[in-house]
Amino acid sequence: MSDAPFCEVAPAKINLALHVRGRMADGYHALETLFAFTAFGDRVEAAPATDWALEVVGGSAHALGPADENLVLRAARAFRETTATPARYRLRLHKHIPVAAGLGGGSADAAATLRLLNRLAGHPLDQAGLLAIAAALGADVPACLVSRTMFGRGRGDQLLPVSGPGGVPVLLVNPRCPLATAAVFAGWDGVDHGPLDPANWRHGRNDLTASATALQPVIAEVLDWLRRLPGASHVRMSGSGATCLALFEGAAVPAMSPPDGWWNVSTVLL
Ligand code: C5P
Repeated sequence: MSDAPFCEVAPAKINLALHVRGRMADGYHALETLFAFTAFGDRVEAAPATDWALEVVGGSAHALGPADENLVLRAARAFRETTATPARYRLRLHKHIPVAAGLGGGSADAAATLRLLNRLAGHPLDQAGLLAIAAALGADVPACLVSRTMFGRGRGDQLLPVSGPGGVPVLLVNPRCPLATAAVFAGWDGVDHGPLDPANWRHGRNDLTASATALQPVIAEVLDWLRRLPGASHVRMSGSGATCLALFEGAAVPAMSPPDGWWNVSTVLL
């Protein structure tokens, strides 16, 4: 997952299916989901420095809040508290994944930071140690740490690697309306519509679609637009939205521009 000694890629996360099975005692929701990851994503770089700092650059940088609340710095803080590593770095986040978009951008950045700092420190933590830090940072961070196709249960942090449609072209479209994950989960109708069989994910649902669409009705238009594209074989909303995806299994992504200036990227599944 690294392409240079001081650099780590942070693939965007998508949910090929996401079933909400119930509400847990801690307020989180019990999920069954098929996570997949894309060649498109963010990038985290580190340069040795006298103190910790974070600079955010890139097309989605403007949408982020204060740097010290960024999951990159929170991950760095958790890593150095766990390992007592004395090294300090100036971190640069190349932010391309849209924010609050159902693509796990912050989680991917946090996971990439953990992988990068652990590598630069000579691997003081094994995978179990990294996963423990990841789980405390957010429900999707463990999956992003592994960044390969996985069946997720519980909060999404009980992970089982499964084979997936690697290399398949995927089009991501976001109508440029951020959605708060907690608000979308809060609008879930409370009905368990049944389990997800990871081997049969093409028949899986995204049970948050109705709640997200109630908050941002334009999501229905995005899904309709994607379904009409020639060769689109699997169209779903990702995570808590509003980004929607279309897979093109056995077909190239058609060269069509989405309407109304919707954000979009054509990439492939890892
Ligand atoms: O863990 P993370 O901070 O990414 O989750 C954001 C919010 O999404 C949580 O505060 C919770 O409201 C909701 N959530 C949930 N059930 C999950 C994952 C997230 O209710 N399995």
